Amino acid sequence: MALVPPHIQQLAPYKAGKPAEELARELGLERIVKLASNENPLGPSPKALAAAATALAQSHRYPDPAAYELRSALADRFQVDLENVITGSGSEGIMATILRTFLFSDDEMISAANSFIGFRVLAHASGRRVHWIPMRDYHYDLPRLVQAINDHTKIIYLANPDNPTGTCFSSAEFEAFMAAVPERVLVILDEAYFEYARDRDDYPDSMRYRFDNVITLRTFSKAYGLAGLRVGYGFGHRDLIGNLLKVKLPFEPSRVAQSAALAALGDHPFLESTLEANRTGMAMLTEALAGLGLELIPSKANFVTLVLPSEAQAVALAGELLKRGVILRHLGAFGWPTLVRASIGLAEENEYLIEQLVDVLGEISNQRSAISGQP
Ligand SMILES: Cc1ncc(COP(=O)(O)O)c(C=O)c1O
Repeated sequence: MALVPPHIQQLAPYKAGKPAEELARELGLERIVKLASNENPLGPSPKALAAAATALAQSHRYPDPAAYELRSALADRFQVDLENVITGSGSEGIMATILRTFLFSDDEMISAANSFIGFRVLAHASGRRVHWIPMRDYHYDLPRLVQAINDHTKIIYLANPDNPTGTCFSSAEFEAFMAAVPERVLVILDEAYFEYARDRDDYPDSMRYRFDNVITLRTFSKAYGLAGLRVGYGFGHRDLIGNLLKVKLPFEPSRVAQSAALAALGDHPFLESTLEANRTGMAMLTEALAGLGLELIPSKANFVTLVLPSEAQAVALAGELLKRGVILRHLGAFGWPTLVRASIGLAEENEYLIEQLVDVLGEISNQRSAISGQP
């Protein structure tokens, strides 16, 4: 249709992991284990839930457009000024605001090919030229991102830890990268999974640095269990944040989301339980998966990614598990056709995944030997 610009016509609609309810209905299954979207298996922070219920009663009132209480609490927690903090409808909401605010004329962007799909969709929708740099051994190739900088480069996007590989770049790599990036280039540093990685010695927590051209993005969707409420936050130089605040939708995040996030931020026991469940779940799953002879990418986040020998086997594995009620994410849409990602679940969910996998792997190998005629 002539009304739709070509770069929008070419966009593929975002395909999320299959909702559990839909799968249960389609297959008549009683038990569904959804490990497809890196959500918090413990559910929402209970304090957040109580605060959200209270806020619901005020739903006839618009939210505070300045999100004063939430931004003040974030400023306190991370030792910055209120003017350095923005909140939005998920960290993706803030990402969208950043592109709308700073891209101008023939500005271009750079990122890693096959990193977070949410950025890829926003970048394509912006209609700007983007240089997608291949990853090296499932890691951001930061020196090659630097080499791609030209006079038009305006934004570089990095996710650390990355989704869907779960890999991180180190402090030394980040410092060398920042030393080479001109100050006129804005770096979006997406730390959606930082809580899971922050205690590692070589993790470059961006809040330990003060680069005027870096915006850090974080979220309540993962470690705080509020993915469904859509609330994220970001930190940056007051001039950058001030301009973002002019452009963001005035009433994001919603009243309920602001209240829930504020309570979640104070729910330290919940955060600790989340991190502990992830540590034990990750240890159990990685050991069991490796024991089944599967190749894994070592992950610093709340998911683990399997490397299958071929696309056909990756598709078969995810498809067969789906029939048994286990939803993983085949990463074809991310540009990784041989990878399948599994979020860390509750202990019983992880066990169920392994049980079903044993079955599925047996079946796939029987099919293979039937085709090849070899045992
Ligand atoms: C790297 C990364 N950034 C951002 C997001 C989205 O976060 P939010 O729910 O805050 O928009 C995700 C979600 O999966 C992610 O993996």
